[in-house]
Amino acid sequence: MCGITGYTGSGSALPFLLQGMKCLEYRGYDSAGITLVDASMTTWKAKGRITELEKMLDAEHCPEHTGIGHTRWATHGVPSQLNAHPHNNMDDTISIIHNGIIENYVELKRELTGKGYVFSSQTDSEVVVHLIDDCFRENGHDMLKALETAVKRLQGSFALCIVTTYEKDKVYCAKKESPLVLGHSAEGSFCASDPTALLAYTREILAMEDGQIAVLTRDRIELYDFEGNPLPVSFVHYPYDAESAQQGGYDSFMRKEIHEQPDAIRGTLRGRFDAEDHLIMDEIESLNLDWDHLHRVYFIACGTAYHASIYGRTLLQRAAHISCIAEPASEFRYEDPIVDEHTLCIFVSQSGETADTLAAVRLARERHAATIALTNVLGSSISRMCDATIYTCAGPEIAVASTKAYTTQLVMLVCIDLKIAEKLHAVFPEEEKIIRSLKELPQIVEKTLDLEAQIEEYAGLLVDQHDAYFIGRQLDYPTALEGALKLKEISYVHADAYYAGELKHGPIALIEPDTVVVAIATQKDVASKTFSNMQETLARGANVIFLTDADTDARDFRRVVRIPACMEALAPIPAAVLLQELAYFTAKGKGCDIDKPRNLAKSVTVE
Ligand code: M6R
Repeated sequence: MCGITGYTGSGSALPFLLQGMKCLEYRGYDSAGITLVDASMTTWKAKGRITELEKMLDAEHCPEHTGIGHTRWATHGVPSQLNAHPHNNMDDTISIIHNGIIENYVELKRELTGKGYVFSSQTDSEVVVHLIDDCFRENGHDMLKALETAVKRLQGSFALCIVTTYEKDKVYCAKKESPLVLGHSAEGSFCASDPTALLAYTREILAMEDGQIAVLTRDRIELYDFEGNPLPVSFVHYPYDAESAQQGGYDSFMRKEIHEQPDAIRGTLRGRFDAEDHLIMDEIESLNLDWDHLHRVYFIACGTAYHASIYGRTLLQRAAHISCIAEPASEFRYEDPIVDEHTLCIFVSQSGETADTLAAVRLARERHAATIALTNVLGSSISRMCDATIYTCAGPEIAVASTKAYTTQLVMLVCIDLKIAEKLHAVFPEEEKIIRSLKELPQIVEKTLDLEAQIEEYAGLLVDQHDAYFIGRQLDYPTALEGALKLKEISYVHADAYYAGELKHGPIALIEPDTVVVAIATQKDVASKTFSNMQETLARGANVIFLTDADTDARDFRRVVRIPACMEALAPIPAAVLLQELAYFTAKGKGCDIDKPRNLAKSVTVE
């Protein structure tokens, strides 16, 4: 999704803006632009990559101390130079960048056109600059007042940064339902849509709340609510440095992040056990919830995080015998879900900014459910909306394809399920063994990564395929879904996942000689059933890649990948790592842009 950067300080603005925009490239974009401001203001915009924009800039002759930069991912209006941000007012004295969607832009555009404003783009965002211009004139050229008036007229979501020639040493920001973070150092003040863009300059970070306006100057940052009342400003020390958000010698962020999983799991489990190996989950302990009258638990998320949710719900329902439902966030709101004060909703989101997931949180809160966020991003919107937040400490995940966020979500969902079962007085099967195995997981994942030569060889089968099928039962089903999603999103091989038993009810019609079927059977009580389904595909000439545990008899199958010894309940974690690698090597074999797959964005901040 779109990326925002802004700077005002003693240095020149351009280097920060460009490096920040490059840090945000991973979110996905189709055009980029910059405004630098001094006594006058200059705006450059280019369709395509940031390098196209750089070709237009004479960086050595850009000493301006204030500026804003934007990477755009088209929602309203085609990707083009005209539609790229920043958007300027008609006399080039005010320039804005915008993330989000202005829902009432048609009505505002009509009104502003009636007042003589001329629009030059097809975007919803351009109304913002003309509206601010109008409010600026009506409020005696007071930008703070103009902004207060303008934001109240905007419906929808926005993260806005504004510069003006009237105050060339300031950047104004405003936020509603779209992320915006601020940073400050001795050099000046910064803003961005994501902390990773700030880390090379400062780790003192403030995540703006909805309904806030910020005024950035070289020496300080001021915060106001939409009524103009001043608010306290306090920064949080961000725990990651710029290095941890860089590629560090790997050919892609995805590969780096796959290999970071042992450490990500270690970090996620750090501090979660006391000396007697009892689980520490204060976030759940302190939840204001009548556990004795809890009727159901929802797990709500999108994409990869939704697959993690299916795993979390399956484990919990088995252990606690309470109704557990996994629901895609994009559907949840429209289903009139049975959600009330006897409901616990667990929202899973790597970024904590996914619009559909945040909308689902709002609904759950309206209906008085208890809410827990499971996220990877400190201070993300979701963490500020839910009753409790539990973090996966996976470190920044840059590649669009989620890897370490997924496995750490599974790890933390096991912990959450264990604690919920305890609160419900349920006996979690093999609890002690699970805790021991959780602690061994980093080593198990390290050993899993040693299998990559074998996975690379099998990926060769997929490179020239149009389709692939992933099958599994029980806890292997979310792994199949996730394996299929990884493959399609980065290698563009069409992949479907099915419950293994469902294959014969239709999809088997698609199996023909050399079709690749990836079968996952790590769950002993259903493994023999999955074998039969695999045999059915073998009989039709499929190339089966079989992921199973250390000791299952797999002599009938040619391509068997054995997951290092691991407790059954946790086997989906190393299994997911193998499928991430299968997708990675397939995409690499096809020469795909692994970190920036087409049409996708890291953080999906529109519904
Ligand atoms: O940030 P979130 O976890 O809320 O994102 C949800 C999905 O957009 C995300 O998992 C997406 O499916 C990934 N690109 C998958 O690799």
